[in-house]
Amino acid sequence: MRILVTGGLGFIGSNFCRHIIRKYPEFEIINIDKIGTATNGNSLKDLENEKRYTFIRGDIRDSKLLKYLITHVDAVVNMAAETHVDTSIVDPTSFLQNNTVGTFTLLEAIKKYNELDLLILIQQVKQLRIFLSWLIVKLMILIYQ
Ligand SMILES: NC(=O)c1ccc[n+]([C@@H]2O[C@H](COP(=O)([O-])OP(=O)(O)OC[C@H]3O[C@@H](n4cnc5c(N)ncnc54)[C@H](O)[C@@H]3O)[C@@H](O)[C@H]2O)c1
Repeated sequence: MRILVTGGLGFIGSNFCRHIIRKYPEFEIINIDKIGTATNGNSLKDLENEKRYTFIRGDIRDSKLLKYLITHVDAVVNMAAETHVDTSIVDPTSFLQNNTVGTFTLLEAIKKYNELDLLILIQQVKQLRIFLSWLIVKLMILIYQ
């Protein structure tokens, strides 16, 4: 099985990738991470020479890249997010962009290009609430247009 991991250089994502590669020899991972300001780009250096692990520096809001990747995987585990609470107060736009628009772009790509075996979204309840509110507003705009 080939898994697309998003945000795989982050705290949870890097541990997830390492665990899967070490424990499940039949699994492959494609990790896409934009390498944000707080991300340690070297967090998976130990997997650098692992044939079953591929890293792509990219953004989940990039629908063209997602279209390509989604058609090459069996499962998606989404962990890409802005997570620093202080930054969310100073710069909420970046949170809306990465967490809400990003998740939406990913879901759209899955819906259009691949009926996956498995989709796991790892988010905080807060993020899901914001995402659902945004989706409802979008739907209302569509309905009343
Ligand atoms: N760490 C925790 O204790 C915890 C607890 C509950 C839920 N969560 C949730 O799990 C998820 C991951 O948490 P974490 O602690 O690993 O976060 P993290 O900040 O360590 O990692 C997030 C990663 O996502 C990447 N990213 C952000 N926006 C992106 C985009 N648009 N495209 C591609 N990559 C992008 C960042 O570069 C970063 O490497 C988050 O949704 C978080 O809210 C975390």
